[in-house]
Amino acid sequence: MADGVATIAYRNVHKAFDHPVLSGVDLEIHEGEMFALFGPSGTGKSVLLKTTIDLITPDMGDVSIEGRSIFQSREALDEAREKVGYVFQNAALFDSLNVYENVAMGIPEKVLERQKRAVTARKVWEALELVNLEPRVVLPKLPSELSGGMRKRVGIARAIVGRPRILLWDEPTTGLDPVNTAAVERLIVRLSRELDVTSLVVTHDIEGGLEICDRVAMLDSGRLRFCGSPDEFRDSSDPLVQAFVDRTAAERALDLPEFAT
Ligand SMILES: Nc1ncnc2c1ncn2[C@@H]1O[C@H](COP(=O)(O)OP(=O)(O)OP(=O)(O)O)[C@@H](O)[C@H]1O
Ligand SMILES: [Mg+2]
Repeated sequence: MADGVATIAYRNVHKAFDHPVLSGVDLEIHEGEMFALFGPSGTGKSVLLKTTIDLITPDMGDVSIEGRSIFQSREALDEAREKVGYVFQNAALFDSLNVYENVAMGIPEKVLERQKRAVTARKVWEALELVNLEPRVVLPKLPSELSGGMRKRVGIARAIVGRPRILLWDEPTTGLDPVNTAAVERLIVRLSRELDVTSLVVTHDIEGGLEICDRVAMLDSGRLRFCGSPDEFRDSSDPLVQAFVDRTAAERALDLPEFAT
């Protein structure tokens, strides 16, 4: 990718449902970056992530992947979808497909058609191992036979199995126990550092996000309230940023349901 071209660029993104959600979001994520997006619940973090590959279409504004607007043509959107792996907040597995079939869905159709079944099977196996699941045990299971945390990790395996250059993580560690939270954080770091994957991580885990990410932003009332380094975020004198950090720390200490979904 040419120097200076953002890997993901949101420009003046607007989206309203029955009320305005995004009211002009401008954000650039650079190649190889690990970027954390924070913000209060219901503020539009998941909506913004979904606009990246047009799962939700903005009312106004533009989204580009590696310098090309996803709205330029159907082909541009397909190309963007092939480059991006998506970890959904609620795992979003297909109930009637087993784990093997769900994970294999993460491999682009074009690649599936030309690669041998054994290669697909190996990739699925490796992706499950990377998220700390025992392939032999989980492969034949249906999502309904798995715990919430296991479903979440199957969703991550599906996002990474096609070796995408860009990963969107929507609350990847929410609902996981400490061991698996640490494993997923290590995985995000490893993919970014070793394989040069660009990661945009939406998380309520402020401490985790500040620790592993290069830059962070906070979304509030439809716009980016803050964008900068983890140190700048910690030292921010913006009362809204401080209040958010304090409130999140308090909720964490009390282990309120938001952190246990
Ligand atoms: N498909 C949709 N149709 C209608 N409203 C929607 C849709 N998706 C999201 N919304 C609304 O947009 C707002 C932002 O939702 P979003 O899921 O992006 O919040 P969030 O910041 O991800 O919150 P959380 O931290 O709880 O996950 C909410 O008011 C939500 O009800
Ligand atoms: Mg969300």
